[in-house]
Amino acid sequence: MSGGWTARAEHLPEVMDDPRCDPVGLERTYAAFDTVNRVVSGWRPVYTRDLRPWLIRPGGATLLDIGCGGGDVARHLARWARRDGLKLRITAIDADARAIAYATEQPPEPGVTYRQALSGDLRTEGQHFDLVISNHLLHHLSGPELTALLADTEALCTGLAVHGDIERHPLAYAVFRAATARTFPGSFIHVDGLRSIRRSYTHAELAAVAPPGWAARRQFPFRNLLTWHSGEPKANPSGARMSNRPDRGDGRA
Ligand SMILES: C[S@@+](CC[C@H](N)C(=O)[O-])C[C@H]1O[C@@H](n2cnc3c(N)ncnc32)[C@H](O)[C@@H]1O
Repeated sequence: MSGGWTARAEHLPEVMDDPRCDPVGLERTYAAFDTVNRVVSGWRPVYTRDLRPWLIRPGGATLLDIGCGGGDVARHLARWARRDGLKLRITAIDADARAIAYATEQPPEPGVTYRQALSGDLRTEGQHFDLVISNHLLHHLSGPELTALLADTEALCTGLAVHGDIERHPLAYAVFRAATARTFPGSFIHVDGLRSIRRSYTHAELAAVAPPGWAARRQFPFRNLLTWHSGEPKANPSGARMSNRPDRGDGRA
């Protein structure tokens, strides 16, 4: 393990961000995200605890996934909602045309649409979503880019926002290095994953840069969740939503 752990290794480039990287390796990386995210990203508890209460209303809910990559998190969320008999319309965006091309080639998931865009593009269009999420996006961003993303999120989100990412820790690095040394051959998972861990925030760092209204939470194993909500409506402990405003139910997105 090289380098110190006292600061983010923001300078470390990820292979997948290189526009000239091997396209076959990139496709294998998008494909591997599905497995990696199932194992480490913890979206099932986030869905059950944080997102699902917002879906329990006649019109369902809309969700924006920013930096969706291959789109696997969006597809899983759509599947879980459908199995729960809940309506969820997801817009999954990525800045990289290669990611959107990969995502649209996957077996279609009802309720999920993909689009090449930045969060700022949707904000300019005046779009709104009940829920806004991202996975493994925060560590990609510089300080000013993070500030812009969170401002965009507040403008786009009428309900709850959850940005999930890795928590930088030497133990996470050691475990990931051992676990991926021989798995996902021909992909960038090993090298980019290790660099991503070193680029990521510690919980204390994320809490320190979180603007007013945002909360940094931890989730096992080695996860940071940066969350924000509009203040209403709130979920009650039983999972049913309580609202102190009329249900718009207007299918915004
Ligand atoms: C590490 S990948 C994560 C992909 C996916 N969310 C996942 O967890 O598998 C980060 C993605 O964010 C995209 N990205 C980076 N900055 C972005 C931005 N400002 N707006 C939209 N997408 C962005 C990159 O193109 C890349 O596909």
